[in-house]
Amino acid sequence: MNAPISIRSFNQFREAFYSFRLPRILFSALELDLFNTMEDRDWTIPQLSKRVRVSQRGLAILCRNLASVGLLVKLQSGYRISHFSKRYLQETSSDFRGEYLTLMQRQWSEWSHLTEVIRAGQPLDGQELETPEYRRSFTWAMHHRSMQPAKDVAQQVALKGARSLLDLGGGPGTYALAFLKHNPTLHATVMDRPVALDVARTLAQQSSSGARLTYQAGDFLKEPISGNYDVVWYSNVLHIYSPAENLKIFKKIRRILSPGGRLLIQDTFLHDPKGLRPLETNLFAVTMLLYTDQGNTYSLQDVRAWLQRAGLTHSRVIHLKKGTGDWEGQLIEGRLPRSG
Ligand SMILES: C[S@@+](CC[C@H](N)C(=O)[O-])C[C@H]1O[C@@H](n2cnc3c(N)ncnc32)[C@H](O)[C@@H]1O
Repeated sequence: MNAPISIRSFNQFREAFYSFRLPRILFSALELDLFNTMEDRDWTIPQLSKRVRVSQRGLAILCRNLASVGLLVKLQSGYRISHFSKRYLQETSSDFRGEYLTLMQRQWSEWSHLTEVIRAGQPLDGQELETPEYRRSFTWAMHHRSMQPAKDVAQQVALKGARSLLDLGGGPGTYALAFLKHNPTLHATVMDRPVALDVARTLAQQSSSGARLTYQAGDFLKEPISGNYDVVWYSNVLHIYSPAENLKIFKKIRRILSPGGRLLIQDTFLHDPKGLRPLETNLFAVTMLLYTDQGNTYSLQDVRAWLQRAGLTHSRVIHLKKGTGDWEGQLIEGRLPRSG
């Protein structure tokens, strides 16, 4: 996801440290609702500053920076929005990433508490994070985040012969719906908490495959998982839990898989012997430190060892096409032997 960074000189240190500037500029542009305000027309700085209600000087420097990274287009006497921004950052677009942008913005202030969280070894105060409003917004954010990766994954992961799929911790069901679209005889179930399932139902109603999606409300760590499935899709859940919790969940999954059934795990994995690469995987562990009691990121080898212990003895790594899918495009598959 990010370019390898290696800090061996003070210049490189400074560069790494100051890389907060561009995100902070993007944050201000979103905070000012600049992309929506600009609609699809040309603006001079005096016109736009009046509309956004900011200083001309501030806006001119902001717009110059946004244009320098391609989010705006510089004109003879002003700016207009770029194709990219129009597609992903304007709320009138069907590709708008709205709730995901909100989630990223929220993280800005939450990450400011990192030192306290490191001191305590405990996540941020979870009260707000557990309200139905937060969970709903988070679930929409997951949809906005995975709209494209879900299409990529469903195109590349062959589910031929599978009749049933469980999207465990499937949130908005974006992946389940993408699998259904590509596999016309498949039936899928999404298991998650009730608020997340409300979002999944809304999305399923808008999908031509939505009638083949069913719902299981519950906590899969504490409660039984019902049904019998040929495939279990476990995407972006592994990192929420500790190794012991994941092992417990894998053992539960084993019991609901049909003979020869597959558990497919999508996450961000460490894949060098020292556990230092890729950087994104380590950065994401910090997100888990901030937001979860036990979460972390793990190596491919660790996860395959847990699969083995859970009885999913045939494991392999599936590589998606470069630049597609979520994270670095690696999935881990654990398969139950045909003899059960
Ligand atoms: C990070 S989101 C991932 C959503 C989706 N799988 C994806 O890849 O976009 C994690 C989801 O798992 C759900 N989840 C986590 N632990 C759960 C549990 N114990 N029981 C039910 N759902 C859970 C959360 O509610 C959330 O919707």
